[in-house]
Amino acid sequence: MFITFEGGEGTGKTTLIQNVAKILREKHQVTTTREPGGSMIAEAIRDIILNPKYQGVTPYTEALLLAAARAQHLDEVILPALRRKDIVLCDRYLDSSLAYQAYARNLGYDFVLKINQYATQNMPNLTFYIDLDPEVGLSRISNREKYDRLDQETFHFHLKVRQGYQEIASMYPLRIITVDGTLSIDQITQLIVSQIEEHL
Ligand code: TYD
Repeated sequence: MFITFEGGEGTGKTTLIQNVAKILREKHQVTTTREPGGSMIAEAIRDIILNPKYQGVTPYTEALLLAAARAQHLDEVILPALRRKDIVLCDRYLDSSLAYQAYARNLGYDFVLKINQYATQNMPNLTFYIDLDPEVGLSRISNREKYDRLDQETFHFHLKVRQGYQEIASMYPLRIITVDGTLSIDQITQLIVSQIEEHL
């Protein structure tokens, strides 16, 4: 079973995935991974995408690099884990490219879906979208020492990312479950674990 976690900045996905994995591991084999990255080559591409020293990355290049990292990650990590019958918990996947690149960067869904054709052939069974006002999310990460190139985007950009996610969630209502990001991490963990168990 392939499960992805989506949301804007500061929604707590990383902690959430660790918590959910810990509970599921009592009964199941679990692989946790993330995008962009998740394998050596994809992590190298991640550095080009997110390192603030590469300010010249254009929107098209960004979308293409993300699609390349995703293809590598699918072949090296996600598909082998699914073949082993693991539960795969992935921090971000194609919906991030739809919200950030297609919607917020205005590249359009058609283009982003086209360059991600390999990912569209390998879609998650279930996606948890953690919905949170970017004002709250960004204030949660304001004490971080390091900001990546996308964290540094304008507030307006992060508002568009949220609008994009909300639109995508309404486009795929059977796959995407929207979770209220103002709930506590423990509440969200419980909610997600019970949804996963229902789907297993
Ligand atoms: P991540 O490390 O999950 O950041 P955070 O901890 O802030 O959630 O993701 C890095 C950034 O990459 C994040 O700002 C979202 C962005 N991103 C895209 O724009 N498109 C994509 O397809 C993916 C996977 C990530």
